[in-house]
Parts: sequence; structure tokens; C-alpha cells
Amino acid sequence: MVNMEIGDCFTFEPAKGIPVHNWFYYKEAYSPQLVGWALEELGVVGAETGNQGRKAVFDPFCGIGTTMLYAKEHGLLGIGIDVSPLALFVSKTKCADYSEKDAQEAEKELKGIFSERREAGWGWEFELFHPSRFFGKRNYNDICFLRERVEGIGNEKVGGLFLLALLSILPQCGFFIKDGGVLREQKGKSAMPVKDAFRRKVKRMLADLRERRAGGAEPELKLEDAREFSDTEADAFVTSPPYLNNIDYSKVYGLELSLLTMRKESTKEMRDREVRGFITGESFGGAPPEAAEYSGIPIAGTYFADMERVLRNLKRIAPKGCMVVGNAVLGGRHIPVDEMLISIGERIGFEGRIAAAKERVADVRPQKLRARESAIIFR
Ligand SMILES: C[S@@+](CC[C@H](N)C(=O)[O-])C[C@H]1O[C@@H](n2cnc3c(N)ncnc32)[C@H](O)[C@@H]1O
Repeated sequence: MVNMEIGDCFTFEPAKGIPVHNWFYYKEAYSPQLVGWALEELGVVGAETGNQGRKAVFDPFCGIGTTMLYAKEHGLLGIGIDVSPLALFVSKTKCADYSEKDAQEAEKELKGIFSERREAGWGWEFELFHPSRFFGKRNYNDICFLRERVEGIGNEKVGGLFLLALLSILPQCGFFIKDGGVLREQKGKSAMPVKDAFRRKVKRMLADLRERRAGGAEPELKLEDAREFSDTEADAFVTSPPYLNNIDYSKVYGLELSLLTMRKESTKEMRDREVRGFITGESFGGAPPEAAEYSGIPIAGTYFADMERVLRNLKRIAPKGCMVVGNAVLGGRHIPVDEMLISIGERIGFEGRIAAAKERVADVRPQKLRARESAIIFR
């Protein structure tokens, strides 16, 4: 039977109110309830599974670590990879263990941090445009100052928390919005002073940490490409790949990524490793047979070819898993991504079924069309 309620957890909306999960807004993330539901569907957790040692859950597109944090909170071993240094940093910081001493040092550090405020000696650069275009002068300087200042914090855990706080406040402190696959300038938008937003954010994070109950082990997290990586073993995977929707994560989160790495080249480096669900400019001629009828649509061919490689790796890593995917509308044609992935999966030895689904609005400018988002269970 298709479950229509869990479909609400395909998005990040329910997670926005959940401590720690909500430290960084990632529109493309799902909510932790989805992970719990998937693990029960798969028989990895639940009354009937008994206690047969610690179970391992793999997420090849771990994003901001929703699966990883859920695993830690429920005594499972999380193993996660992503090609985004930003996503990995957010996941690691959310899933790290913090002591009361770390929290106290963070409070002390926060008190004095703006008293030494000065002109930053470092300039933030981004591949697509100069970031100062999207921030007021004072905010731009405070961002650069804080980024530099974080490097000098002796306690690595505190440095990580501060850096995550800084990265997470960029949208509310700048004159831009993330609009589908692009960053759009919005001159009339009100921008919060970095100083206030940063303080508020760090305080909230520290309060969350103090309320957090002791969890399991920190997950294993690596900067790897899901099309190539098969060097691990897990009881199941729970994941959501990039959708076939022309969104390039290295652009949408490029400001945060270049601020994190302090290198403008990092966005291009990441782009070269992403699953190709967006226009890359490269010529391509090898869509899997199941997707042959869509091979005339440039990004559909590359997307399904990449996803076949991912599924082959998953087959080596885990006997079963759950994958949340979205159907697409491209060039006026509806593409049933879920059915395509089930067919590709069947050819390589997985049995797949749609266990839950929800209609969502696909923003296909100038139209808004309905397309299904679904959770596929593979065994
Ligand atoms: C839909 S998001 C996953 C969000 C995640 N479920 C969460 O809740 O945070 C897809 C992720 O895939 C990553 N990605 C894109 N191409 C990849 C690849 N080739 N290998 C691994 N990760 C990749 C992106 O950086 C992005 O973080």
C-alpha cells in the first residue's frame, strides 16, 4: 500500500523545528522522520528485529547529515559520503560529540569576539561574482573578519560550531535569495546585521547541545563520489540523490562553500564530481537502455547513466535500502524518474517498489507543473 503521510517528510519543512537537525537550512534535505520510517520498512529497526549488534546505515548523498544524525541519535552506525565539502562539514559538526567544557569555552569566546573587530586581512572570493555584491559593506567585512578569526580558535569543536553558525546566517544577512537553481539579487530585502545573527545563532546552538541526550557514535564521513565509492559495508542505505531538475549544488551553495574553504576554485572542483542532473556542456551519448527514449533530452541521459553507476555501487554495499527521488518535467515532457530507477535497479539485481509517494509542484518556469516524489524501497 502506498503511504501518503510520510510524503510530508520528503522535504526539510518538518526538520525546521528540530534541534540540531535545523542548524543549517538545506532546501533539498529530507526530515529525520523519513529515515525512521525507512529503517522500519526495511526491518533494520523495530520491535521484531531484536538486538543483533549495531546496525550500519549508509547514505551516499549524505547532504547535511539527516540520515547520519538520525543514526547517531538511535545508536546505529552512520556511514556517509558526499562530494560537497560544505555538506560534509555541516554533517560532521552536527554529529560531533561536545562536552560541557566545549560549550563553556564557546560562550567565553563569543563574549569577546566582536570586541576585537577590525578590517579583515582576507578577501572572500566566489567563482560567479564578487560576494560583496550581495552584502552591505559592514556585513561583508564582519563575515570576512569572523571567517579569519575562527581559524585562530584553539578548541577545534568551538571553531567548528562558530564556522557553521557563520555559514548558516549568510542568507538572512545578505541581499539575495536562493531561487530554484540560481542565486538572485534582491535589493529591497532586509538584511540582518551579521553581529546579531551570529550571536543569536551560536547561543541557540549551545542551548540545543545542552539539551541533547547522549547519542551513539559519531558517523564515518568521507568526501567521495557515490558513482565510484563502494569501499564499505552496511545493513541498509537510506538516501536521496540530486533530482533531475537542473540544480547544481556547487552554485546554489557556492557562497557558503567558498567561504568555508576560503578558495574560489572549490565550487568548480565540486561541480566536476556531481551527479549530472544539470546542464554541464559536455556531449554525451550513453543513456541506459531503460531511459533511451529520453536520451534526446541532454541532462536525462547523463543523469540516468550516473544513477546506474550509483545503484551498482549500492548493490555491492548493502542488501537493501530506501531512495527518495523526484519525477521531472523537462522540455515539456514528464519523466518518471522513480519508474526508470526501479527498471535500472531490476536489471542489476534489485527489486524495487514505490512504498510512499506525494505530488509536488515542479517549478518549470514559466509553468508550475505537478510531479510525483517517491520513496523507493530496493531489496
Ligand atoms: C538531495 S541532497 C541530499 C540531502 C540529504 N538527504 C539530507 O537530508 O541532507 C543530494 C546531495 O548529493 C550530493 N551529491 C551530488 N553529486 C554527488 C556524487 N556524485 N556523490 C556524492 N554526493 C553527491 C550533493 O552535494 C547533495 O548534498
